[in-house]
Amino acid sequence: MPKLSSIRLILYAFLLFSYRGAVAQGTVNRPDTSERKWWKEAIVYQIYPRSFKDSNGDGVGDLKGIISELDYIKSLGVTAVWLNPIYGSPNDDNGYDVSDYRGIMKEFGTMADFDTMLKGMHKRGIKLVMDLVVNHSSDEHEWFKQSRSSRDNPYREYYHWWNAENGKPPYRYSLFDINHDAWRYDSLTNAYYLHYFSRKQPDLNWENPKLRQEVYNIMKFWADKGIDGFRLDAFQFAAKDTTWPGFPKGFEQNFTKYYAIQGNLHGYLQEMNREVLSKYPIMSVAEGAGNTLEDAHNLVDADRHELNMAYPFDGVDIPKSDGYSLARFKEVFTQWDEAFAQKGWVSVFLSNHDQARMVSRFGNDKPAFRVPSAKMLATFVMTMRGTPYWYNGDELGMTNAGFKTIEDYRDVSALNEYQHVKNMSGDVEAYLKELSFSSRDNGRTPFQWNDKKNAGFTTGTPWLDVNQNYKTINAAAQEKDPNSCLNYFRRLTKLRKDNPVLVYGKYTLLDKDNPQVYAYTREWQGKRMLVLLNFSDKEAQTSVALSGNPKLLLNNYQDELKTKGIAMLLKPYQALVFDVVQ
Ligand code: GLC
Ligand code: CA
Repeated sequence: MPKLSSIRLILYAFLLFSYRGAVAQGTVNRPDTSERKWWKEAIVYQIYPRSFKDSNGDGVGDLKGIISELDYIKSLGVTAVWLNPIYGSPNDDNGYDVSDYRGIMKEFGTMADFDTMLKGMHKRGIKLVMDLVVNHSSDEHEWFKQSRSSRDNPYREYYHWWNAENGKPPYRYSLFDINHDAWRYDSLTNAYYLHYFSRKQPDLNWENPKLRQEVYNIMKFWADKGIDGFRLDAFQFAAKDTTWPGFPKGFEQNFTKYYAIQGNLHGYLQEMNREVLSKYPIMSVAEGAGNTLEDAHNLVDADRHELNMAYPFDGVDIPKSDGYSLARFKEVFTQWDEAFAQKGWVSVFLSNHDQARMVSRFGNDKPAFRVPSAKMLATFVMTMRGTPYWYNGDELGMTNAGFKTIEDYRDVSALNEYQHVKNMSGDVEAYLKELSFSSRDNGRTPFQWNDKKNAGFTTGTPWLDVNQNYKTINAAAQEKDPNSCLNYFRRLTKLRKDNPVLVYGKYTLLDKDNPQVYAYTREWQGKRMLVLLNFSDKEAQTSVALSGNPKLLLNNYQDELKTKGIAMLLKPYQALVFDVVQ
């Protein structure tokens, strides 16, 4: 390795300048953002239970499966698990259609299994964050059965109904419906009910205080069991303007603007905070962060007593199809960091169960680049300010599924949209092509444990096909290889836990216009780290050069570092983390 002595002048000058700027803006002391909290220091591992591990051969992952892999989860160095919904559900949307908020889905096991799982996590120092799906319920929930049974049923006001004698309701867009019409006619009471998602997911009426109390009681039920947090599914859409204004034509292109953070949503969150969240040592995160940075800020400003952290979509919303620009990527993440530089807190993630696989989407899943690019992206997620949310399987560099026909898919949104395109005589082949890149099922294929049948996920027939590359990409093989994605991920979690500067440190973007390299520093309490990431498949040069004696903490290549003059040269998808304060 070349001898690297004190930090290069340019870097010093830049940092001094930004420090002065920060002093001028009064942002150096950030009592809120830098106040230590367990949920800021957490590394969250998201488990999609249906696809993680099947214990009984029915082809569906389950709680006993998770229990059997708790040591694996612990070995990753993560400190919390976010579990997708495990409640009673007819599974129209894989558990996001809840029919029993206090019970466990039969396919997943029993409440006794749940208790064992929670105990096993806590024993290992891992916290549990549960998904709370209360923008809507299942149409098979008892509340909805009652609600639809007659117009004067006490549960009528638990949902949104529009009586047909008043004409057609104003158009609302449904994300998952075959016709995209969010009002579903029900002849039983000659009325329409509202469903932003599928027709089996009727929206709950948050304007009804009784419904809100029901939800708070459900939250207390789980909090009393000792869980450590809630992720509020689609909650930004929960409040509605019940004067039902008409929306402009084509609003569905930008529906979040019309759906998110409407009506009294902040009031409901403050009430939830008063009634539940403030009474337990638990964390809260809402999916989606509204339309503006101000919206997001208001959700998580500690003085407002709503939620702990925002989970914004701008990163994963960067246009998908023809690759993406690193310039936009840097812009998005820099902007979100700035928004929370003084108050509030944000999540950092590049994938989840609603997205394509991280390496296929933001990295490069060709054999030559899959491993370095998966490691590089992991380095990004683990060295940004904010709480990292890591999706199961990404630590192996699992890739998109490679499905070819519609029969390969299971996701309700994909199946309905396919039917919609067909009904409209649209281009079905083009839609299939789009699905192969961006379908949610790409991220939902079974976890690849080993090279045995069905990747060791099940002895039966998996509910969704295993990715055919499991013979080469699997946990067992990576356990044995010190340079695998898996073992690199473990080094990263350790690095983050050993260095709170990576959690709390001020973020400064360097070499902003470099089209290949994302470079930044993190600084906190006299510590400074420098992160250099090559997001391209070519060698790259960065104007951030090193001289002096920075300590190299992490490198996703084994080779020696290369410099050109005083500039660093980075191999394709190379990631480097330095400690630059001696
Ligand atoms: C959220 C979930 C997604 C689900 C939807 C409806 O976006 O992440 O999986 O389909 O809400 O509940
Ligand atoms: Ca099972």
